[in-house]
Amino acid sequence: MQITTSAAPWWQHSVCYEIYVRSFADGNGDGVGDLVGIEQRLPYLADLGVDSVWLTPFYPSPQHDHGYDVADYRDVDPLFGTLADFDAMLATAHDLGIRVIVDVVPNHTSSEHPWFHEALAAAPGSPARDRYVFRDGTGRNGERPPNNWVSVFGGPAWTRVPDGQWYLHLFDSQQPDLNWWNDEVHAELDDVLRFWLDRGVDGFRVDVAHGLYKQPDLVPRKRGDRLPHPMWDQPEVHEVYRRWRKLLDSYDGDRMAVAEACAGTPEAMARYIRPDELQQTFNFTWLEAPWSAAAFRKVVVDTFASVGLVGGTPTWVLSNHDVVRESTRYGGGPAGVARAKAAALTMLALPGSSYLYQGEELGLEQVDVPPHLRQDPAYHRGAEPEGRDGCRVPMPWSGDTAPYGFGTGEPWLPMPDDWAGLTVEAQQADEHSTLQFFRRALRLRREVTVGLPDQVQLLDSAPGTFAFRRGDLVCVVSCGSRTARLPDVAGELLLASGDGVADGRIAPDTAAWFRAR
Ligand code: GLC
Repeated sequence: MQITTSAAPWWQHSVCYEIYVRSFADGNGDGVGDLVGIEQRLPYLADLGVDSVWLTPFYPSPQHDHGYDVADYRDVDPLFGTLADFDAMLATAHDLGIRVIVDVVPNHTSSEHPWFHEALAAAPGSPARDRYVFRDGTGRNGERPPNNWVSVFGGPAWTRVPDGQWYLHLFDSQQPDLNWWNDEVHAELDDVLRFWLDRGVDGFRVDVAHGLYKQPDLVPRKRGDRLPHPMWDQPEVHEVYRRWRKLLDSYDGDRMAVAEACAGTPEAMARYIRPDELQQTFNFTWLEAPWSAAAFRKVVVDTFASVGLVGGTPTWVLSNHDVVRESTRYGGGPAGVARAKAAALTMLALPGSSYLYQGEELGLEQVDVPPHLRQDPAYHRGAEPEGRDGCRVPMPWSGDTAPYGFGTGEPWLPMPDDWAGLTVEAQQADEHSTLQFFRRALRLRREVTVGLPDQVQLLDSAPGTFAFRRGDLVCVVSCGSRTARLPDVAGELLLASGDGVADGRIAPDTAAWFRAR
């Protein structure tokens, strides 16, 4: 299949599927997912109906944060394959009409990056140290950290090196922060983007996009500080994205970038997608919202208000590799999965781009990984009481027992004993499965949303429900506890996430699409 170009850039309305590389498909039997595994499974994703995939970092890395600690930005970790495997995977994806975006991690490197080795070997005040954020400590002998900043993963954001200086790491101590006040850092990351664009990637997911710059005087934080945060969302960061936008635009094919930015206000979020900056930023408001029609309504209203400030397009995200799976967040069990399907169908009716996380289409729930097997540094440093491993358990593809066709080796995280009914194979054979529902929803989305307006009209609807109309598509989601009346405008039923839509009524935990009357 050829990738067709239309007037609107492809990313504006795409469904992008996040592949957590180490957990998607293991092609070489070592228990860890890899690029060969991904390539083999791309036909599955084409059949599912996604437009693009986002690959989490597969670059050489000691894997302290599963690849978000990059030791070499221009290669593939042997754990995941080779550059040739990457090229082959990319070519196959493009042949299938699937765009590929890759992760770029500009806020920090791995402590195994050659630059950090050089920095450690060099003297305080040297150019090699200036690529990172090294400072002298406080206290009589510099034995206390330079300030009181705390790592996102827990504990102090500073680690001391043998000569007495300290370096900053907003995440794990093995993820030293780069110094974006240093021009060499800019040149290096520009070159990294070019490296992957030249190989043909369609875009980037920018990790911790609101990081990068820290206030140069590293002011300490006070409890309850309302001042602008000295670690995040500094104004200078936008200059980086302006330059990156020019760089992206210098290539053909609507290359794009989506920011993982967490800025405090809708206005601050919108700044990342000004017309001369990045194309998208993840909208995490839905992912943070409870199962509630009022909350969903507010998410939609606030999102349009935010992107409207800059004329941007919205994105919608229910889950990713950092959060508890939405089926579990919504209560777990059959009701949790029914609600997750309903939320997904609602999201897919909206203008803009939807991001799915692998396993969402199978209705996977969060797995309770035994504490001694947890690998997440945020768990070990204390910031995440359960850790993020529970949403990162490998994908079940086939068969009745672990590793369910994920590969032939022992999977890097244990897979539950009761997943036989959740495998791709099992769900493909069942017309009523969650997977078949997602296939139908993505197909229908392609058919019925083409040419629909990018605005939605919120509809008055029964208590416990949220309803909107987009052109002649009507979407209703019911989060209440009893069957509710559908809005009059809901005509022919196109697709429902459950069986309970009949006689002008919709059952709880269900969403449906209708043609407007
Ligand atoms: C992002 C990633 C997360 C990682 C962190 C540090 O939030 O999504 O998985 O741990 O950045 O790079």
